[in-house]
Amino acid sequence: MEITIDMRALANIDMDALVTYAFEQEKPLGGILAAFDEATGGALSKLAASGELTGKMLETTLLYYPQGLAAQRLLIVGAGKKEKFGTAELRRLAGTAVRTLKSRQVKRVAFVSREEDRSAAAAQAITEGLILANFDSDKYKTDKKPGNEITAAALAGWDESSRAEADRGLARGRVVAESQNFARSLGNEPSNLLTPRMLADRAAAMAREAGLAVEVLEEKRIAELKMGALLSVAQGSVEPPRMIVITYTPETSNSGAPVLGLVGKAITFDTGGISIKPANDMEKMKYDMCGGAAMIGAMRAIAALRPSCKVIAVVPSTENMPGGRAQKPGDVQISMAGKSIEVINTDAEGRLILADGIAYAKQLGCTHLVDAATLTGAIVVALSNVNVGVFGSDQAFTDQLLASSKAAGEKMWPMPIDDDYREMIKSGIADIQNVGSGKGGGAITAAMFLREFTGDTPWIHLDIAGTAWQDDVKPWSAKGATGVGVRTLVDLAMKFGANGSAAK
Ligand code: BES
Ligand code: ZN
Ligand code: ZN
Repeated sequence: MEITIDMRALANIDMDALVTYAFEQEKPLGGILAAFDEATGGALSKLAASGELTGKMLETTLLYYPQGLAAQRLLIVGAGKKEKFGTAELRRLAGTAVRTLKSRQVKRVAFVSREEDRSAAAAQAITEGLILANFDSDKYKTDKKPGNEITAAALAGWDESSRAEADRGLARGRVVAESQNFARSLGNEPSNLLTPRMLADRAAAMAREAGLAVEVLEEKRIAELKMGALLSVAQGSVEPPRMIVITYTPETSNSGAPVLGLVGKAITFDTGGISIKPANDMEKMKYDMCGGAAMIGAMRAIAALRPSCKVIAVVPSTENMPGGRAQKPGDVQISMAGKSIEVINTDAEGRLILADGIAYAKQLGCTHLVDAATLTGAIVVALSNVNVGVFGSDQAFTDQLLASSKAAGEKMWPMPIDDDYREMIKSGIADIQNVGSGKGGGAITAAMFLREFTGDTPWIHLDIAGTAWQDDVKPWSAKGATGVGVRTLVDLAMKFGANGSAAK
């Protein structure tokens, strides 16, 4: 989708559709809506009076060949209550407009933001909403209709004084949303077409194109580095594991500067291993690599936006299969960090590969760590499909991430970790075991397990099991992989780099 800024008078914009939004109980119609109302001979106020145009969140009202406008259609999206309105809502309603119109074969749209939404953050949110909504996962459909997407969009309503803000928001929004879509496309791939080797190839191709350094560790090197936890999961599969490392280095950096490490779980298929999962819904376990995909997607955007801090993504990848050589419940494995792990349940494999990913990220010099993983069903019980679970060992760093999640419009919620949960992962035979022994708290004991490997390094764990995949379409988004995490991590990296300091 090509996106431009159109500064023409709104009446002269000759696109297939002009889009704007109305708030609930907005009487009389304000700003741009009043101008439209006048141009259309009072059509909008009549619709409002008849109760058809209420401004309720995501309500759509479509007018054809509106009088006085060069555009063929005028779409008004409900924006809900004005007091609750922000960039997250703006992103969703730009997306809703795209999905409403593209199903009607519309190709060219102009999105008119209202007077109060003429900031770079607003332009970014609109751009992201447009690009994310244009994405569909029909790659393997042989009968797909050609060109069922918006080809050109314009940001309208801006003037000379706000033009620079619009340019900035548009440029950043484009990079971020395209990178999120890249992560989504990886998440949607079936596991036969995205093995760990193929994921590494796709990540390496992206890195080369983006000008990032990339190193892919193969099985031999993984064994030399004694990544016993990653190898233990991989041994049940005929597909070899990979450790994908992508590095962004800023032009100038001093030796003591903080280095942000992004560690992502990339199980390209999780059968559960010998502790095998039930057949129902098992096909979804192709998305067990979405933590890794989020990190790879974030690196794509970071390469273009060039924050001032160094960022290293470390993505351990393998299948979790119950092959003849698979590890068995009760086996003891030695991780790269030297800690011994009793594997009580082979389906708790994500924390095993992350243990080595975290150890390796630390060895590479990361001073701050964020991991993202579709780690536990328990986080779905706690937070459903709405919020990402956030576990942090350092309050200032965690607050920074939560602020970024707010700015980026990705819902995240803090979860507790404390030493009382440590008791639950004590093993009778090894240093720790890979599942909690107590009742409940499965997402927390999983985080506690990871914490064992972070040492003193400030660390945040994002459990995205409930949010990385969407079973149903939303008015603003296709079903399938969501690419959750990309926007927050990019925002964090941009701010983390500012002034070369970490937590502020
Ligand atoms: N990949 C799963 C977690 C998951 C569940 C992701 C649902 C997406 C949706 C993970 O590897 C797993 O199987 N976790 C187990 C851990 C248990 C054995 C302690 C779980 O949550 O049931
Ligand atoms: Zn599992
Ligand atoms: Zn898993």
